[in-house]
Amino acid sequence: MNLQERDKNHLWHPLTQHKLHPDSIAITKAKGCVLIDENGNEYIDAIASWYTCMYGHCNEYITSRVSKQMQKLDQVVFSGFTHEPAIKLSEALIKILPENQNKIFFSDNGSTSVEIGIKMALQYHFNKGEKRNTLIAFEEGFHGDTFGAMSVSGLSVYNGPFEDFFLEVKRIPAPNGENNNEILKYLEDIIVTNNVAGFVYEPLVQGAAAMKMHDAEGLNGILKLCTENNIVTVADEVMTGFGKTGKHFASLHLETKPDIICLSKALTGGLLPMALTTCSQKIYDAFFSDDISKGLFHGHTYSANPLACTAALASIELLQTDGIQENIKIIIASHQDFGNRIQSHPKVKSIRQLGIIFALDLNVEMERYGNLRDKLFKFFMNNGIFLRPLGNTIYIQAPYVITKEQLDKVYQVIEDALEIV
Ligand SMILES: Cc1ncc(COP(=O)(O)O)c(C=O)c1O
Repeated sequence: MNLQERDKNHLWHPLTQHKLHPDSIAITKAKGCVLIDENGNEYIDAIASWYTCMYGHCNEYITSRVSKQMQKLDQVVFSGFTHEPAIKLSEALIKILPENQNKIFFSDNGSTSVEIGIKMALQYHFNKGEKRNTLIAFEEGFHGDTFGAMSVSGLSVYNGPFEDFFLEVKRIPAPNGENNNEILKYLEDIIVTNNVAGFVYEPLVQGAAAMKMHDAEGLNGILKLCTENNIVTVADEVMTGFGKTGKHFASLHLETKPDIICLSKALTGGLLPMALTTCSQKIYDAFFSDDISKGLFHGHTYSANPLACTAALASIELLQTDGIQENIKIIIASHQDFGNRIQSHPKVKSIRQLGIIFALDLNVEMERYGNLRDKLFKFFMNNGIFLRPLGNTIYIQAPYVITKEQLDKVYQVIEDALEIV
């Protein structure tokens, strides 16, 4: 029996209705931008395995650093203990994060980084003796699959069974330049009539909402109004972090800096799971007390795993190299050329781009997980490209190390796909 068949015996995959989609492609090897399956087929990973492997799969710089660390210290409890990989990582991060960020809290995945951001926001007010119980979030936001993260996520199609158990959330539209003032008025009303603790948002690009992009000025206005009302702002940079938007963090494009930032995915270059919730000194100070109960009583067994910290440190070093920064510029320019070429195609409704994130909406209506979407996905895979269309949106978020040749192939296959929709 091959791997694909053996998989069916005991495995339950994420975001999968197994009755409709029984087959999973068995990947046996990955190198650079290429995934190889058990039959030897090769696929260019044009979404960097959910935006993680930005420096290429099995990147030798990262793997060799982790391999050395493995011989020295593998895992230790992070309550009452500390270690060099975590300390070095914190020092490297603080240098590149927005200047108001000063403290770093570890967890394991994007959802938990948001969960912690929400807890920090709620407890910040609680510790100050204020009972604020409402959160604000964008319509169609996506922040993960744990309860707090699901509560602030507006893409509720799959949250049905759980909605009765959610936190109190008021939703606002994302700013598009035309609705900026309207949103501010609406937000003012929400602030007056509710005890708002925090605003959780994906800055500038809402990934799961099919790479929906914001008007930066509009977002700035929202952040300013929140800050003026002492509403804790929580930037979910799980997807946008580490160079995707053309700057190290999306928040660096904005004037008003968030109180809290959530990070994961590209943090470790895709090698190991880890997440961070960073915050300003102001937030941290609200927890710093003689009273033990004012501390943040949240912790995961693998918090600050030394191997994951080492992978993250190596990844951040790579991000800052001239080579990667140059590649980012080349990808941005290539996407612009591709966008110009394709935008007048009759099957293309619109295109958008921020940094290396490129998205194209098709002129056809498609369900998020419908037949046409599946047909497109199969077409891409049959042509050696791993892309996951979101409804009628095709998007690219390729590793920074993608070659010109590979990128041209991705563009070509997308153009070819327009003929089958
Ligand atoms: C913006 C954003 N936040 C949170 C998450 C959840 O991260 P994870 O899947 O690691 O829990 C995702 C995942 O796609 C995301 O894109």
